[in-house]
Amino acid sequence: MDSFYITTPIYYVNAKPHLGHAYTTIVADSLNRFHKLMGKDTYFLTGTDEHGDKIVKAAEANNQSPQEYVDTISALFRNLWPDLQCEHNDFIRTTEPRHVKVVQDILQKVYDKGDIYFGEYGGHYCYGCERFYTEKELVDGKCPDHLTEPEYISEKNYFFKMGKYQDWLKQHILNNPDFIRPEQYRNEVLSLLESGALEDLCISRPKSRLTWGIELPFDKDYVTYVWFDALINYISAIGYPEDEKFKEFWPVVNHLVAKDILKPHAVFWPTMLKAAEIEPYQNLNVHGYWLIKDTKMSKSLGNVVEPLKMKDTYGINAFRYFLLREMSFGQDSSFSEEALVGRLNADLANDLGNLFNRTLSMTHKYFGGVVPSPMDEEIEDVEIKKLGQQAMHTYQEEFAKLRFPRALEGLWELVRGLNKYIDTTAPWALFKEKNMDRLSTVMYVLLENMRKIAVHVWPVIPEASEEMLEQLGIQFDPRKFVLTKEPDVWGLLESGTEVAKSSNLFPRVELPEPQPVAKNGNGKAVKTSDGKKAGKEEGDEFIEFEDFQKLDLRVGTVLTVERHPDADRLLLVRVDLGEDEPRQVVAGLAEFFSPEDLEGRQVVVVANLKPRKLRKQVSQGMILAIKTEEGMELLTSSAEVINGSKVS
Ligand code: MSP
Repeated sequence: MDSFYITTPIYYVNAKPHLGHAYTTIVADSLNRFHKLMGKDTYFLTGTDEHGDKIVKAAEANNQSPQEYVDTISALFRNLWPDLQCEHNDFIRTTEPRHVKVVQDILQKVYDKGDIYFGEYGGHYCYGCERFYTEKELVDGKCPDHLTEPEYISEKNYFFKMGKYQDWLKQHILNNPDFIRPEQYRNEVLSLLESGALEDLCISRPKSRLTWGIELPFDKDYVTYVWFDALINYISAIGYPEDEKFKEFWPVVNHLVAKDILKPHAVFWPTMLKAAEIEPYQNLNVHGYWLIKDTKMSKSLGNVVEPLKMKDTYGINAFRYFLLREMSFGQDSSFSEEALVGRLNADLANDLGNLFNRTLSMTHKYFGGVVPSPMDEEIEDVEIKKLGQQAMHTYQEEFAKLRFPRALEGLWELVRGLNKYIDTTAPWALFKEKNMDRLSTVMYVLLENMRKIAVHVWPVIPEASEEMLEQLGIQFDPRKFVLTKEPDVWGLLESGTEVAKSSNLFPRVELPEPQPVAKNGNGKAVKTSDGKKAGKEEGDEFIEFEDFQKLDLRVGTVLTVERHPDADRLLLVRVDLGEDEPRQVVAGLAEFFSPEDLEGRQVVVVANLKPRKLRKQVSQGMILAIKTEEGMELLTSSAEVINGSKVS
């Protein structure tokens, strides 16, 4: 069996988790789930980075000992991941003995080999970055990241002979095009390696300055530099050097990081591994930054996005889907609630949710909620199946390359294709014609494709995927579904399976917007913002007969129904009133009727109502309905009449 190993950076515990951490971990989880579904044995590691100056300072600021402090913040990270449906196999902390031991073993090995030496060093030290900067790297004498002036420190320290491995590293990157990806970051590292000699890396801190770290095994007066310590988590967690896990997973490791920590991962880490005589990692995958209104997220700017708040407001499915769908892996992306709501309403509620709603309720209406047996296929069926195969191949290929927006866009071709397929095959018309053979095939094509979609989205929105499958009468089990087979197999959904009545997985969401007051909770008229009474005046409960005559009431047949793209309660109903063109009526019926309930029905329409726009959609009339205790009933004719017949 093939294996796959994915890691996230181990996060500093000097601040609470935010959107950036959530993104990397959700991507790691999605990749882990994806490879699991591709039939691989997978391992997913995350954790926390707990040593160094930064942590000591944060603990002091919090009036806690470093240990108390790291325990608290590390737990925040550990507890967040299940809430975001990230199922890691292990959570490593750099303060754990299993990690400390491996760091000391590696230090000793590299020291014994002669690749670590003692020397004097003076440099510009940035406490924020916990590293020395060369003159060249400073911008106007300041740290380019923190924009603060570094302190000049001169002291004796231990150095790792990183420069010794520069040529090897360059060659390794050239020989392995996928070693660092996407390409822009590979090029960045290559040009750094070509721009001059690599300096050796200072890998110790004197205890006189910092005690919160892993003691050097060969000098008790020093602790290890936090990066030399932290990077080793990727092997200490899987039991380097002897554990079976190390043997199975290290050769297939994929590191996932953002561009901020490219250099430690692309330069320090492979050279450290080389010196310790360990094979280099397989891939380093580098993503861009989430920005808030085009600016960096920062505590001081107060624009940090808390992942749990987003999840609670919009649901975990929308949150995970948005993050993967929106950011092109490698590029920066802007986060906004508007964009999230837009995706949720368009892709999830309108496209995917609608497909499930419509099809499940039609299965109930036409087949008592049971998956029918398909009969002969027609050209439309063959075409949609082909489109599905293509969509699934695209999804799988792009996902494996971490091109998530392309993967999802590819799969959504099928989602949208199926919605169109419903419109063109018009199951309600087949039902009316009693063409049950054809209707069985159409419904089966829809339901089997929905099963395939539900399986494919599991890596991204696992909760929704499992619910969708449950609605199709299937218990999810990652070992039962193999993605690679899906594009080419047909008919795994068994005829006779009972499906759910409806599906309301992705309710539409509206961004709060200020609205003038028109009605109170009981539906009674209240004063509008301009102070006038919105209800009836006394004495005007009767109308003249002439007033009634002004109404042009007509009977028409509902052709198609769609949900309004921007309003939960509204449906866009196309009605045939016997005129040249069908009319669009925007009706507030979505709470009471699904589109399928209405399609094919005859309704009464106020045909001479002045057209008006409701949430940007033109409404050319009004459908009459009767309010009941339970909800709403349609006003209709006792027998089928010609469309356009007048009600008088
Ligand atoms: N402790 C080190 C990593 C050591 S790994 C051996 C560290 N920690 S961190 O808490 O600062 O996490 C940095 C990582 O968090 C980034 O590489 C990225 O994965 C994630 N993100 C933090 N801010 C981010 C954004 N604004 N956007 C996207 N991801 C970002 O560095």
